[in-house]
Amino acid sequence: MSKGVSKADSERSRLSNFGNALIGRGGCRDDALAAPRATPFVARGVSVYEIHMLNPDRLDETAASFVALLQDAVASGASVGFVPPLDARDARAYWAGVKDAIAGGNRILLAAVEQGDVLGAVQLDLAMMPNARHRGEVMKLMVHRAARRRGIGKALMLALEDAALRANRRLLVLDTRPGDPAEQLYLALGYARAGVIPRYALSAAGTLDATVYMYRELDPR
Ligand SMILES: CC(C)(COP(=O)(O)OP(=O)(O)OC[C@H]1O[C@@H](n2cnc3c(N)ncnc32)[C@H](O)[C@@H]1OP(=O)(O)O)[C@@H](O)C(=O)NCCC(=O)NCCS
Repeated sequence: MSKGVSKADSERSRLSNFGNALIGRGGCRDDALAAPRATPFVARGVSVYEIHMLNPDRLDETAASFVALLQDAVASGASVGFVPPLDARDARAYWAGVKDAIAGGNRILLAAVEQGDVLGAVQLDLAMMPNARHRGEVMKLMVHRAARRRGIGKALMLALEDAALRANRRLLVLDTRPGDPAEQLYLALGYARAGVIPRYALSAAGTLDATVYMYRELDPR
């Protein structure tokens, strides 16, 4: 670190690579998780992450972190559209599609960032048909295995709900594999089960697994 540049300044400048709005911070504390827009929580020995809304340009510069996050989720056996092994080229192609969707104005991407590393991410696909502009689909909630059970998944979802309301989207829909940790998280956040479709997606184990559709109508906070 160059003389005269504090650690905080250095981290701030690395974080700025993640693009535009900083929409929340969290730490290993319940109140920080319940209120992702809370006042920054900084304490000795406690790591702090920040939640950013990504713009398309910055996604290119930080692609390696997002590729690693997706590869980790797929390697963990998560049902996120791919089966392992996921090579870096396919992962990069996926994020290039996300970049196009953000640029097209029909996708929101949030990332939890800690000291320059992407620990987790979630997306909201904004329905564009004229009769569906109140609706969005939650997609690809992922937290790196090294960072799970720190409340990051919950904080990302709460931040995404705030972003959805700002985009005038009051009905959120999603699907996930029944029995996965994600289903527990969504139920805990108030998502209702709409129904289960059997044999919906190929798993890492080679079986066809069910998916459960869920939804939540947001109250303006
Ligand atoms: C689902 C996932 C995002 C959760 O992220 P996380 O940061 O570990 O979750 P949090 O620490 O915020 O947990 C919030 C709540 O979710 C539930 N939860 C999370 N992990 C759980 C687990 N392994 N078992 C049971 N409940 C779990 C709990 O209710 C938890 O609250 P608690 O800690 O007070 O008990 C993470 O496990 C993941 O990335 N999984 C792989 C990807 C995936 O399946 N995504 C869903 C696609 S639809």
